[in-house]
Amino acid sequence: MPVLPILTYPDPILRLKCEEAVPGTDDVCRLAEDMVETMYAAPGIGLAAPQVGRNIRMLVIDITGPVGAPEPHVLLNPVIQEKSESTSFEEGCLSVPELNVEIDRARKIRVRYQDLDGRWNDLSAEDLFAVAVQHEMDHLEGRLILDYASPVRRDLYRRKIRKQRAQGV
Ligand code: NI
Repeated sequence: MPVLPILTYPDPILRLKCEEAVPGTDDVCRLAEDMVETMYAAPGIGLAAPQVGRNIRMLVIDITGPVGAPEPHVLLNPVIQEKSESTSFEEGCLSVPELNVEIDRARKIRVRYQDLDGRWNDLSAEDLFAVAVQHEMDHLEGRLILDYASPVRRDLYRRKIRKQRAQGV
């Protein structure tokens, strides 16, 4: 299972609205395995398909961290069914390095999604797990944490990245 390169801002693939994932295909199953591997290697607690260059509605999450036993979740075509009151959390993103943004998200959610065999499941998530699902679902719409930052911070970040690229960093 290869570790895939993670695209970073301003790669245009990160801005696409993703297409429906087709469960059960070899391609999607292999991609899910590679995404889990890539997430652990990063290390991160979640990864969405566009971050590895694939424009499909699939994400992987494992919030257990390096100490616990791995508990990877693979969600295809997730849809939020219910949201609770909101909470705010400082989020980072593997595709938007060196930026943390405080974002309001629902503290509890119920999500309907397909597994790799195409079965529909319901998942209830709260706190970090809920935040991670909502963060990864943003990627499927082409939305990044940068979009939640103030205009000034957005502009500073854009300039910093442009400068780093010009310097070949
Ligand atoms: Ni992200």
